[in-house]
Amino acid sequence: MLDKRMQDALNGQINAELYSAYLYLSMSSQFAELGMAGGRNWMHVQFQEELFHTQKFFDYVVERGGRVLLTAIDKPDQEWPTPLAMFEHALAHEGKVTGLINGLADLALELRDHATLQELQWFIGEQVEEEATADDMVKKLRLVQDAPAALYEIDKELAARVFTPPLPAAR
Ligand code: FEO
Repeated sequence: MLDKRMQDALNGQINAELYSAYLYLSMSSQFAELGMAGGRNWMHVQFQEELFHTQKFFDYVVERGGRVLLTAIDKPDQEWPTPLAMFEHALAHEGKVTGLINGLADLALELRDHATLQELQWFIGEQVEEEATADDMVKKLRLVQDAPAALYEIDKELAARVFTPPLPAAR
């Protein structure tokens, strides 16, 4: 059975993951407006990843006999001045999420909740990947400084990203 403090913290993380999904869907919408189909796709894949994270936390809380309580999701930003600004925001956001996951791990340690700590190991590894993926795009976009011809090429790269849900055994 989950400790009430852990359950509340995990519910908070479910809200944070849904906010992340919302944020990336908002970015996907701006890429669509810009006519960058690759950027739209990349952000939509990120949206799907965040929904997967949400579901993974949801399933874990339920599996431990806890109760998921959904709360209001904050409104995400809707406009960014450039594609680079969007990816810089994504990178900064993932840094914040990493801090949240680390906070959950700290609480699990304090409560000697080893099951939750084990569950969080997957997310700790996932955050390394999430930050690295956003950082890679920030570096590329900084190099080209939003030059249209280069953006066209980068958009093709962004179009290649696909969402691959991890196998259930990865839990
Ligand atoms: Fe759910 Fe992007 O971390």
